[in-house]
Amino acid sequence: MFNDNKMRIGILTSGGDCPGINATIRGVCKTAIHHYGMDVLGIHDGFLGLLTKDVEEITDKSLSGLLNMGGTFLGTSREKPFKKGGMTPDGIHKPTLIAENMKELGIDCLVCIGGNGTQKTAAKFAAMGVNIVSVPKTIDNDIWGTDISFGFDTAVSIATDAIDRLHSTASSHKRVMVIEVMGHKAGWIALYSGMAGGGDVILLPEIPFDINNITEAIQNRIHRGKTYSIIVVAEGIQTDGVKRPAAYIAEEIERATGIETRETVLGYIQRGGSPTPFDRNLSTRMGGHATELIADGMFGRMIALKGDEISSIPLSEVAGKLNLVTEAHDLVVQGRRMGICFG
Ligand code: F6P
Repeated sequence: MFNDNKMRIGILTSGGDCPGINATIRGVCKTAIHHYGMDVLGIHDGFLGLLTKDVEEITDKSLSGLLNMGGTFLGTSREKPFKKGGMTPDGIHKPTLIAENMKELGIDCLVCIGGNGTQKTAAKFAAMGVNIVSVPKTIDNDIWGTDISFGFDTAVSIATDAIDRLHSTASSHKRVMVIEVMGHKAGWIALYSGMAGGGDVILLPEIPFDINNITEAIQNRIHRGKTYSIIVVAEGIQTDGVKRPAAYIAEEIERATGIETRETVLGYIQRGGSPTPFDRNLSTRMGGHATELIADGMFGRMIALKGDEISSIPLSEVAGKLNLVTEAHDLVVQGRRMGICFG
């Protein structure tokens, strides 16, 4: 069991699951146990586990097999302790209860692995004086302050493989195939998988589109003898503030061009299964550096990838911002030059 004069880390995962979370947990915990001689407490189901003190001691044995395992073995939730005043049904202030429970559990510092919502929550706990370090997690890659979040590379790899496979049906049936990938506010998965998968039209939430431009682009391709087209859209695309799913795009194309058009929504497949080697190593590095921050007493910070270096930035700088695609991104510039339609 635990030894009172050792530093004790609490670790939780919050928000949507994502490939690489377990690898990150492994990086944090193995570094803590082997390099720094710390104790580690795994917290179940995100911040819910801190409200109910639902925890487990993490040992080397707990960490076996995590590196290539999808999801999060600790479980996750979308519990936001500060939301709506942060009160439990019986009038207890959740953040205060969490801070008290951390003290009772002997947690010296909390490691939170999560997306934008989790970073906001972590920033508020840091402002309360709770020792906290966070690791950015999302397949959307929309967390500001880090070049890449783990999970993104795996999602792009899964989406690109799916797009490659959909070329078969498109070419065999002379169809237009519309593939919807994840990404509510940020179109990073659509951009990277669309370009890697040979998309002819790529639609992002960040770049407004006109459906007439899309249908015209398809018709121009036909006039150039291109018998099929591949369209990749982010789930968050919209026109005039109205979300436009793949089914809408497919219907509009078939109506305007008369070409058989089918849609495929990849959904949660993009978050499932084993992380790519890139994501395993990024997760391992980010996890280990999170523990290093704690050992150095540097709290209130989010781990970040800058170029090929792992660094960290104050949580106060991250909360509320998004990492979005711009027209100036090289893949957009090069894509346009090659005749790819962005809307
Ligand atoms: O933020 C990651 C993400 O997978 C988004 O791409 C997607 O829209 C959302 O989570 C789905 O959320 P939930 O898992 O709550 O359905």
